[in-house]
Amino acid sequence: MRLLMAGSPGSGKGTHSRRLANDLGIPHIATGDLLREQVALDSPIGREAKAFMDRGDYVPDNVMVDMIKLRLSQPDAEKGFVLDGYPRTQIQAIELDKMLADIGQQIDAVIVLEVPVDEIVERLSARRTCPTCQRAYHMRYDPPVDDERCDDDASPLERRTDDEPDTVRHRLKVYSDRTAGVIEHYDVDSIVRRVSGENASVDEVAKRIDEALGL
Ligand code: AP5
Repeated sequence: MRLLMAGSPGSGKGTHSRRLANDLGIPHIATGDLLREQVALDSPIGREAKAFMDRGDYVPDNVMVDMIKLRLSQPDAEKGFVLDGYPRTQIQAIELDKMLADIGQQIDAVIVLEVPVDEIVERLSARRTCPTCQRAYHMRYDPPVDDERCDDDASPLERRTDDEPDTVRHRLKVYSDRTAGVIEHYDVDSIVRRVSGENASVDEVAKRIDEALGL
């Protein structure tokens, strides 16, 4: 199955993509995670991307298209994937379609998580992430067993630099200006499934996603 997980910053894309990919036995491919890996390595791509990410702006399309081409050409992506946070621009969507068409594939479904802005701001203010495996926690709604460490690998949890309130507001504006319209690109094929993530636990939203996908 080839799935896209879409939605505004903090809507739960990472949380639900990770779980879904695990359940389906396919890779979770998150462009934010791929970029943060490059930043941590201090690679040329990481150095270029960091300034955009710290401001809450999108990394240029040419960088993103090359990065995703490389990742989707890995053998583990042959049987399917959950793509989290990509495509975010019209150019990325068109290039992804071309890339898949070249190998006789297409996207099966697009999940769009819908969460009101106030709830997003609250979620991101209490988010902590694992720098090793990128798993996200919410210190109230989805806390780690040990207050300060990742349940999976015991790394000390961190706050993302782009989760400062002013940067979150900018990220939400960039999403609204540049990505909300990209969903329409997939509407024509009737593969878009809108799922409310409002005022519901992680488990409840997971059930809604499974129902939307007929799982
Ligand atoms: P990225 O890392 O993808 O950030 P984002 O899209 O802003 O999304 P987030 O990771 O902040 O949130 P999420 O939707 O994954 O929510 P989460 O599951 O953590 O991208 C970062 C940057 O990289 C971008 O700003 C850009 O610069 C660059 N970039 C990435 N992709 C790009 C692209 N394609 N093109 C150009 N640039 C790109 O959940 C949030 C919190 O809520 C967590 O604490 C979680 O525990 C909690 N939570 C989740 N579900 C619930 C629930 N039901 N109830 C209560 N709390 C919940």
